Amino acid sequence: MTRPGGPSPGRRTAIEPSLLPATAAIGPDGRLGVGGVDLVELAHDVGTPVFVYDEEHLRQRCREAVGAFGEGVAYASKAFLCLAMARLAHEEGMGLDVSTGGELHVALRAGVPAARLVLHGNNKSEEELATALTAGVGRIVVDSFDEIDRLERLVPRLGLPSRPLVLLRVTPGIEAHTHEYVRTGQEDSKFGLGLASGAAGEAVRRLRRPGSPVDLAGIHAHIGSQIFALSSFERAIELLAGFFVPLDLPELNLGGGLGVAYVEGETAPSIADWATALRSSCRTAGIPASVRVSAEPGRAIVAAAAITLYTVGTIKELPGIRTYVSVDGGMSDNPRPVLYGSGYETFLPRAAAAQRPRTVTLVGKHCESGDVIVRDGRVPADLAVGDILATPVTGAYGHSMASNYNKVPRPAVVFVRDGACRVAVRRETFDDLLRNDD
Ligand code: LLP
Repeated sequence: MTRPGGPSPGRRTAIEPSLLPATAAIGPDGRLGVGGVDLVELAHDVGTPVFVYDEEHLRQRCREAVGAFGEGVAYASKAFLCLAMARLAHEEGMGLDVSTGGELHVALRAGVPAARLVLHGNNKSEEELATALTAGVGRIVVDSFDEIDRLERLVPRLGLPSRPLVLLRVTPGIEAHTHEYVRTGQEDSKFGLGLASGAAGEAVRRLRRPGSPVDLAGIHAHIGSQIFALSSFERAIELLAGFFVPLDLPELNLGGGLGVAYVEGETAPSIADWATALRSSCRTAGIPASVRVSAEPGRAIVAAAAITLYTVGTIKELPGIRTYVSVDGGMSDNPRPVLYGSGYETFLPRAAAAQRPRTVTLVGKHCESGDVIVRDGRVPADLAVGDILATPVTGAYGHSMASNYNKVPRPAVVFVRDGACRVAVRRETFDDLLRNDD
């Protein structure tokens, strides 16, 4: 097998190799394999829709993050979480960021030591806090004054062996260049405490007062997600530094947010580039080299590792208007196009090097017209009913935001590596849809 050829200059060309997982390779018959597994055969064996993760790609990105940031770096599990993923990130040396009791539960069940977990959430319940504190999570990221109240009540009651380490989440007051739904660094946000309003300073005073039941280890800021412009992170660091440096704290966690390329023509900085930029901005802003600067990438670890495979069921040609290609999934396995207007590419794994002269609208099987996966998807001329069709770069916020809308069972998740395929999450059955009904 050989790696697909160089970048595609025009719109009729084959899928761009840089959008495919690390081990993607086209066989002599033109079919695409990932992890040494033929995707069309895999689809026939395990059914569709299916999320196919390249395990080697996931491991490479985790190692890149650990190499770039050191062992304090955590994988933001909201991007994609199951037992296999939690174990993989832990095996590769990453901590895990969990933001709900559910994510905490999965991480602990996967065997990730609690000390390697960072707990987030703008509305952590007392129960979530108690579970995390009792388990001994490594860091709790305090998000509000109400949470400080809860911790002050709870921690003394639990009789913990030592004071829990916390970070304080602050909003530096920056509007990062990204979709407004995933922008979180601005003053007007449900997350964290504002620098400009003085709320962050007030929270630090409370967390550090004599007799405080928690130990403030550092400051946390997450300015948003799918950010390509390193200048947005640089600006955030400039704004943070004036607050952070006088506090003389050992840790600064800069959250996640690094963007990834989804469609042809997009390019994103690597995790290593991002880390270098963050560190150099910290130095420029006067943050001492002794401070542990860490981060929580989610999307950049998992997005490009996966491809979703669907089966084409219906092709409806409307002359002069458009061609609708319907597949057996849709907004229930990928709500991102509907939520954020996100773009994706399409291709046929049976002809991965083929030209794609036909433009079609790829839609799902849900009962609404908004159920569009790719508005202008390009496919080979001979696309036919029964074809296995792929959308690449679906590893982040696809399975994790999947729903059972229209009682569509959630797809399977498989990991491929060294010619073998293992099911990480089995496909839901119709009976699974009834498991909570009385
Ligand atoms: N840390 C915190 C505190 C976060 O809130 C997030 C993402 C991350 C880290 C990881 O960010 P990443 O590296 O993945 O950008 N559903 C949206 C993305 C929501 C991101 C929420 N927070 C999407 O599909 O684009």
